[in-house]
Amino acid sequence: MREIKFNHVTFKYPNSQKILIDDQSFTLPTNKWISIVGHNGSGKSTIMRLLNGLLQPNKGQITIDNLVVNEQNLEEVHKLVGMVFQNPENQFVGSTVAEDVAFGLENYNVAPEEMPMIIKQALATVGMTKYENSLISDLSGGQKQRIAIAGVLAVRPQIIVLDEATSMLDPMGRESIMKLLRKLHDDGHYTIIMITHDLNEAELADHVLVLEQGKVLANGITEEVLSNSKLLKELQLAPATGEQIREKLISVGISVPDKYLKTEEMVRWLKQKLN
Ligand SMILES: Nc1ncnc2c1ncn2[C@@H]1O[C@H](COP(=O)(O)OP(=O)(O)OP(=O)(O)O)[C@@H](O)[C@H]1O
Ligand SMILES: [Mg+2]
Repeated sequence: MREIKFNHVTFKYPNSQKILIDDQSFTLPTNKWISIVGHNGSGKSTIMRLLNGLLQPNKGQITIDNLVVNEQNLEEVHKLVGMVFQNPENQFVGSTVAEDVAFGLENYNVAPEEMPMIIKQALATVGMTKYENSLISDLSGGQKQRIAIAGVLAVRPQIIVLDEATSMLDPMGRESIMKLLRKLHDDGHYTIIMITHDLNEAELADHVLVLEQGKVLANGITEEVLSNSKLLKELQLAPATGEQIREKLISVGISVPDKYLKTEEMVRWLKQKLN
């Protein structure tokens, strides 16, 4: 079965009294773009650390397709699940771009003669070919995140997790990372899991998981989850732009489609109306 499955997973940090994830079961589709949303401290990062084996559940089991995430399979799991974190500064080991991307490969016994080609391919995918020999310290935040993604891609993962990877970037930096994710998604080879607080980013996904205090509150296709305005109000999350426009149009008595429209779809709908 091609899916990511959390089966009755319970987890508590060793130094904490509180059970953070209490008997949670859910599945996520593979080869899709998935957003994870929820308040600070709701367990988003923890769930992702459990997925890539950085943390082990106290009870229950996590599987990726047929592979059980456990200590025995850790190397395979790390290869399968690549992670990009919030702070671009904290994820580099090499001083140049090429060195840094190579470092990830060295951990996976890639033959040295194959490395230059793999590095070039990964840099081309993220649009950073020109920077192969640049110093990481000379790059902008958005460029650093692209290199972090290249480092992950070079290892040929199946799943790419971005844990608030755009939150420190300016709007242009964000936009360029979102475009890159769209491209990777459209390639069809990757499962992209993006943790975000921004529903304008979240709605770009195919699928949304909502967490609150370690519990899954919603898990389903994007339109279904994000049209649940009661849930979003409870979570105090501002709807995405398209949905805000839809609500405003309704409030002034303009009839609009009776379903969730992603912002892009709303723009198309408005354009058609105005023509
Ligand atoms: N290493 C740790 N040891 C003990 N408790 C931790 C540890 N890391 C996180 N926690 C606690 O677990 C809970 C969930 O944290 P987690 O980082 O998974 O939340 P999050 O949803 O990613 O939050 P944020 O949006 O702030 O990144 C929080 O209450 C946090 O204090
Ligand atoms: Mg987090």
